[in-house]
Amino acid sequence: MRILFIADIFGAPGRRAVEQTLPAIREQHGIDLVVANAENAADGVGVTSRIATRLFAAGVDAITLGNHAFRQKEVYPFLEADQRIVRPANYASNAPGRGLAVVAAPDGTRVAVLNLIGQMYLDASRSPFEAVNGLVAEARAQAPVVLIDFHAEATSEKVGLARMLDGSVTAVIGTHTHVQTNDARVLPGGTGYLTDAGMTGPHDSVIGVRTELVLRRFVTGLPVRFEPADGDVRIEGAVIDCDAGSGRATAIETYRLSVR
Ligand SMILES: [Fe+2]
Repeated sequence: MRILFIADIFGAPGRRAVEQTLPAIREQHGIDLVVANAENAADGVGVTSRIATRLFAAGVDAITLGNHAFRQKEVYPFLEADQRIVRPANYASNAPGRGLAVVAAPDGTRVAVLNLIGQMYLDASRSPFEAVNGLVAEARAQAPVVLIDFHAEATSEKVGLARMLDGSVTAVIGTHTHVQTNDARVLPGGTGYLTDAGMTGPHDSVIGVRTELVLRRFVTGLPVRFEPADGDVRIEGAVIDCDAGSGRATAIETYRLSVR
């Protein structure tokens, strides 16, 4: 089966790009299932129930989040109610929502989607390295295919987690930096890996935000209200091919499409 992972959808430009092009992308590339990180979909900070609902309607099967998961209070009941959206599993267990979702491809193949957050510069409640083993066992009990979105800053954490899980999950895809890396590969045990899937949104920016606003903050040190940029919109991510029986990845490639 073939899974499309859509990297961090940033603001209205990223959302619109997905809504406008996803049906054609699914068709053109024979995609069976789509997982999208939407932690920046609401003007760069978090996601709302309305945006998540629109992404599902556009053809996204499961949504992952990250360090901005809880920025929009409105979404808390939605995180509890909708089984297709996950926030980092190693956040506090009494925070809204869940970290593991199981969705099905059109042929009935079950796919578990697990979201974790890194420890470097981010606020994990528990170590992802400690939390993940029990979660992978839980995921594999429910689905042959297991995809992990590891939302983390440090390359070493991402490579390390993927190496630790090699052979026990289908793919570990890194998110959060918004810069796509050039290291997509299937590890020796059969786990597909990419350090960072990139960003779906305006690339004429500093990782999604208007360049002049980010520079004003860096140069003056003063507080500046960030706004999403709008130029050079691209969809980025990864395409993962896997054996639906064993759950092993057979190929992984980065994905990139200029929308305007
Ligand atoms: Fe993030």
